[in-house]
Amino acid sequence: MIGLRGYWYIGCASSRLRAKPKAFRILDEQLVLFRDEQNVPHALVDRCRHRGARLSQGRCIAGKIECPYHGWRFAGSGECTEILSLTRDQRMPSGIQVPSYPCVELDGNIWIYMARDGEQPGTPPPGIPKFERYRWVQGSIDHACSFQDLLENVLDIAHPAFVHPWTHPFWYSRKFMGFPEKQVELRVTENGITTTAPPTNSGDDSIPEDIPLFGAWELPDRVVTMGRVGSFEFASWMHFVPTSENSCRLEYTHRNPFPFGPKLSWRKREPLLLRQDRVLLEAICSARQAEGPIPERSVAIDEIPLTIRRILKLAADGLWEEKRESLPKRRVIGARY
Ligand code: FES
Ligand SMILES: [Fe+2]
Repeated sequence: MIGLRGYWYIGCASSRLRAKPKAFRILDEQLVLFRDEQNVPHALVDRCRHRGARLSQGRCIAGKIECPYHGWRFAGSGECTEILSLTRDQRMPSGIQVPSYPCVELDGNIWIYMARDGEQPGTPPPGIPKFERYRWVQGSIDHACSFQDLLENVLDIAHPAFVHPWTHPFWYSRKFMGFPEKQVELRVTENGITTTAPPTNSGDDSIPEDIPLFGAWELPDRVVTMGRVGSFEFASWMHFVPTSENSCRLEYTHRNPFPFGPKLSWRKREPLLLRQDRVLLEAICSARQAEGPIPERSVAIDEIPLTIRRILKLAADGLWEEKRESLPKRRVIGARY
């Protein structure tokens, strides 16, 4: 599966789109972003309607994007508004249009609505709560694995003790605290799942705001992780934007515990923790492509990634709303992590 249509995806972080157009990929479509004179971003298919040149190799001029080949200019709506090579008595042909996608800038990111058949979004993109209050670190990392590989990985609490030497609290817990047995609560929500620890007493209890470990996945590709380890607090919003069947782009926004925001900084270097996952997942994905899938076996704690898989399949088949009640609402799972 490449990914789901009918959702908002991050095209790039706001700070990555300046005066020049920017090429990017979502759901196997090559797109271009540019800003108009009011600094408003627009997203078009990255192919000029004249001879198919990449508009992203052109430039922005007077609020339009100009094709690098013969200089045709396109507005944010995708309409061709100027062809400079026409003489005064030649008429501007009408109806030349590059397909465009709804595009919104919100909380440090530029969002594209990847519509099915040109439909308009019913809701705005999901912002980041309390964005104005904090300082943030953002980054973007291309992955040669599917977005589903990465999505299943990030809430899989059995892996950090093995994959993340020196970078993850669960690795320290295995190394120095005897790999204790714990429990985690898995809930199915309106638009994905939550994983929390320690578990609440019942499914009727709401999840406390200051719970030590909180993870949530929201369709299609957003994972929020928050928590506390000792006095260290972390909170991260991650998007695993599907770019093709076997590639995706991680766009992350980590919260710094400092107030007086919003202030955004850009991290060029890939954090070691993220690199550890990427190397492992890219190897899994390339083995699957070369040798085919394996008959997988699973244990109790794999219910978390398996639930993600089930929901993605239901959503891809258009059955999520209808079949949501068929999934167990809440489970408490034991695991050493
Ligand atoms: S290919 Fe774009 S103007 Fe000719
Ligand atoms: Fe990981």
